[in-house]
Amino acid sequence: MKLALITGGSKGLGAALVQQYCDAGWQVREYSRSGSAAGHVDCDFADPAVVTEVCGKDFAALATEQWDEVVLILNAAVLDPIGPLAASTPADWQRHLTVNVTATITALGLFMQHFQALPAAKRVAAISSGAARKAYNGWSLYCASKAALEHMIRSIAIEQLAEAHPITAINIDPGVIDTAMQATIRAAGEDRFPDHERFVRYHADGVLKPPARVAAAILAILADPCIGGERYSVEDRLGGR
Ligand SMILES: NC(=O)c1ccc[n+]([C@@H]2O[C@H](COP(=O)([O-])OP(=O)(O)OC[C@H]3O[C@@H](n4cnc5c(N)ncnc54)[C@H](OP(=O)(O)O)[C@@H]3O)[C@@H](O)[C@H]2O)c1
Repeated sequence: MKLALITGGSKGLGAALVQQYCDAGWQVREYSRSGSAAGHVDCDFADPAVVTEVCGKDFAALATEQWDEVVLILNAAVLDPIGPLAASTPADWQRHLTVNVTATITALGLFMQHFQALPAAKRVAAISSGAARKAYNGWSLYCASKAALEHMIRSIAIEQLAEAHPITAINIDPGVIDTAMQATIRAAGEDRFPDHERFVRYHADGVLKPPARVAAAILAILADPCIGGERYSVEDRLGGR
C-alpha cells in the first residue's frame, strides 16, 4: 500500500499531483481549504493551531496502517503580498509566513513524529521556487519563505542520517507553471512587481508549463533514488521539453 499526503491539493500543481497519485493507485490525502476530491481534508494553513489539530489527528490515524511507501509533498503556499514590504501590513506579512513557513513546518514535524518509526520507504518533497535562490523586487516574503523551507529540508536531511528508518527529504524547483499563482503575478502590475512584464511574456509565449506535466515530472523524481537534502529541478527532469 502506498500513501501520498499533499498540502494544497485543491488546485494548480497540487490538484495535478493528487490526480496522478490517485491514478497510480496510491491512497491520497490532500490538505487545503477548498478541495473537493476524494481524500480532501479541510485544513487552513493560515492557522497553525488548525494544522496541529487536523494534520496531527490524521497523520496519527494513518500511521497505524501498514504502508510500503509514504510521500509527503509540502506544496501549499501563497505569493501575496506582492510589492515593497512596507506597502503591506504586519497582518499580511504574518499570514504569508504562517502559511508558507510556520504551518508547513508544523505539518512536516508532525509527519516526522508519526511516521518516523515506520519501516516504509518515506519521502518528503518541499515544493520550492527559483525565488528561494534569486532575490526578486516585490517578492521579499516569498523569497524569504521559500529559502527558509529549502534550508529546513537540508537540515532535516542531516538529522535523518542517524535514524533507523530514515525519511529522505528533498527540495524540488517546479519551474514556472500555468496556475492561479501566475495569474496573481500578472494581475500585480509593474508598480508592485517590476519584473511583471517578463511574467506576462512567459504566459503569452507559452513558457508556463501545464500543471499535469510538472506533476508527472515530480512523481518521476520521487520514484527514482533521491539524495536527502538535494534540490531537484523539474526543468532538468524534462530536459528542456
Ligand atoms: N505557479 C508557478 O509558476 C510556481 C513557480 C514556482 C513555485 N511554485 C510553487 O508551487 C506550489 C504550487 O503552486 P501553484 O502555482 O499550484 O499555486 P495555486 O494554484 O495558487 O495553489 C496553491 C495551493 O495552496 C493552497 N493554499 C493556499 N493557502 C492555503 C491555506 N491558507 N490553507 C491551506 N492551503 C492553502 C491552495 O488551497 P486552498 O486555496 O483551497 O486552501 C492551493 O491548493 C507552491 O508551493 C508554489 O510556491 C509555483
